[in-house]
Amino acid sequence: MGSLDGRVVLITGAGRGIGREEALFFAAEGAKVVVNDPGVAIDGTGGDGDVAAKVVEEITAGGGAAVANTDSVADWDGARRMVETALESFGDLHVVVNNATIERNMGLTDLPEKDFDDVLAVKLKGTFAVTRWAARHWRDRYEAGVRADRAVINTSSGSGLLNPLPTQASYAAGNAGVAALTIVAALELGRYGVRVNCISPSMARTRLTLAVPAMNEEPPTGRFDPLHPAACAPVAAYLAGAACPFTGQVLSVRGGTVAVNQGWSLGGHIHKDGLWSVRELTDKAKELPTDDPFDKLAQTLTGALGDFGRDRLQEMINTLLDGGGRSGTATA
Ligand SMILES: NC(=O)c1ccc[n+]([C@@H]2O[C@H](COP(=O)([O-])OP(=O)(O)OC[C@H]3O[C@@H](n4cnc5c(N)ncnc54)[C@H](O)[C@@H]3O)[C@@H](O)[C@H]2O)c1
Repeated sequence: MGSLDGRVVLITGAGRGIGREEALFFAAEGAKVVVNDPGVAIDGTGGDGDVAAKVVEEITAGGGAAVANTDSVADWDGARRMVETALESFGDLHVVVNNATIERNMGLTDLPEKDFDDVLAVKLKGTFAVTRWAARHWRDRYEAGVRADRAVINTSSGSGLLNPLPTQASYAAGNAGVAALTIVAALELGRYGVRVNCISPSMARTRLTLAVPAMNEEPPTGRFDPLHPAACAPVAAYLAGAACPFTGQVLSVRGGTVAVNQGWSLGGHIHKDGLWSVRELTDKAKELPTDDPFDKLAQTLTGALGDFGRDRLQEMINTLLDGGGRSGTATA
């Protein structure tokens, strides 16, 4: 018996990388899977219908149940159609995994408006659109008297939550937005039996991270590979299961480590009974225990990639801004 027997799951961007591993894992756990993926390039251009079809073939060859959908999550009607695909193929929908993404990395002084919009359209609006159409269905079923556990699992990134990376203005903003959307949706949809959580993968070997140093190292055969994109799948499956009590949580996943994100929280404060003057703030604001984002990012990269001081970070930023930072270089 699988932990997801009888669950119908829609996974976006499930043709490659982390989403593909989730689709295979969910199917092996007994779920019926809608494999959504238009098969686009990292920057969202092009398309290949075979990308989703191949994952479906792999699942059905192993005795599982799956259908393909090639709509874009950024297309409002496409998002509705992928929900309908689940209903028409499998009779219901229990779980949505919002995983699709594109990247267009560039320094913001050069970043065209369209590139910013297109990334947000997939990452943030796409998460909203698919969730919204699924939630409509769940609300209708609930009002018709049907009671079932439903779940949404969103996908964010450390580039957005912990260490927004230079050249990722759109991607980082989208990922931070996905975490905020997770909390709003959890608070709103609980009354229909819907739990909404988010995973934040880190250092998973996919086409997005191949250029990150150390991502290509594979352990000897048979040893656990912490960089394998399958690391997120059991965590997503746990969140998808009817027995999971979690809602409104954002969990970072790196290899075998699962950590709860505590989000933005208030730190130390200063206070005055009345309106501050700028002069007073010039004196007192120094007492606020602020973080330096530059040092914070250098520390994060040191944890992930070995010794990374301020000089090396400045060098990396310069390289990225001078043109080395196009899509696919700095997601970890
Ligand atoms: N790889 C990592 O280390 C890492 C780190 C942090 C966050 N993430 C997040 O994990 C998720 C998966 O990333 P990945 O590394 O597997 O990337 P990937 O590029 O391997 O897979 C993303 C898939 O999304 C699909 N996609 C793109 N636009 C789409 C659209 N409009 N509609 C539907 N599908 C679309 C692509 O065709 C692709 O197959 C993303 O949300 C990403 O932000 C990954």
